[in-house]
Amino acid sequence: MSMANGQNNQSEVVLRPGRPEDTGACGRICYEAFEGIARHHNFPPDFPSVNEATGLIDMFLSHPNFFSVVAEVKGEVVGSNFLDERSSIAGVGPITVDPKLQNARIGRRLMEAVLARASERKLAGVRLLQAAYHGRSLALYASLGFLPRESIACMQGAALGTLPAGYRVRQAVEADVDACDRICTFVHGHDRAGETLDAINLGTATVVEHEGRITGYATDVGFLGHAVGETNRDLMALIGAASAFSGPGLLVPLRNGALFQWCLAHRLRVVMVMTLMTTGLYNEPAGAYLPSVLY
Ligand SMILES: CC(C)(COP(=O)(O)OP(=O)(O)OC[C@H]1O[C@@H](n2cnc3c(N)ncnc32)[C@H](O)[C@@H]1OP(=O)(O)O)[C@@H](O)C(=O)NCCC(=O)NCCS
Repeated sequence: MSMANGQNNQSEVVLRPGRPEDTGACGRICYEAFEGIARHHNFPPDFPSVNEATGLIDMFLSHPNFFSVVAEVKGEVVGSNFLDERSSIAGVGPITVDPKLQNARIGRRLMEAVLARASERKLAGVRLLQAAYHGRSLALYASLGFLPRESIACMQGAALGTLPAGYRVRQAVEADVDACDRICTFVHGHDRAGETLDAINLGTATVVEHEGRITGYATDVGFLGHAVGETNRDLMALIGAASAFSGPGLLVPLRNGALFQWCLAHRLRVVMVMTLMTTGLYNEPAGAYLPSVLY
């Protein structure tokens, strides 16, 4: 088999749905693919270990609302991709191809598979975030119809331990979901109830209250969580109350200059810049928000 970079014979690549027994191979490839690209560009890896990458893949492969696709060559797993179908706007990723086989159009086929799925399911739109330093993924997604919408700073640092006066942050419970959905729909034009419920069950979701009502929420303050608020002060409360910022960091839209500068003033550091890209329906956000790495 001639499988050096760019030499792969497309007919050898078979795509099929992911299965629980793919977890180990997909987790290892996920770690190695992100680690290799990040190291090449002198950036920290998205996942600190194979275990962390495998944990995420395990969760996605076993979740009923995630579509998965695995690429195989001669019976061996060489890559995978996922579509988060918990909302009417779907999220792509993580997409990863074995570093030995990258640049041979396997990534393109894995992307085409999730886009075909989204159109089959008549999902209104698809979104993703990519590391801006990675020219290949940027080019791949743009050539498949994705438009860059927003530059996002991934930021990390010590917990801030600060709250604006008159704001209170507490753990979210199931009874909060309707209030959270209302704010999300106001900001994004659709709710993200599936993600919010999952985060409540995981214990990572928080809500902010101001003047006796919920004015924002975060499914987690970090890489895998999204947040919305009526105003920047709601986001500042959620960020200020977080005990840590999960994964590589929280994701701050650069166009929200006031929030970005506030994070810098609170000594958060920029880890990398990412690009939010979408295809299909996209509503310009009408309020304060932090995307998750899946959107
Ligand atoms: C991103 C990733 C999945 C892409 O998979 P891949 O199999 O290497 O990519 P492909 O060969 O299918 O597609 C790359 C495309 O970008 C093009 N490309 C590559 N570098 C480019 C550049 N600098 N400028 C313009 N186009 C470029 C290639 O020519 C190819 O297009 P083509 O199909 O028209 O020839 C893979 O590189 C990977 O696993 N990366 C590590 C993890 C990661 O970054 N995931 C994405 C997170 S958002």
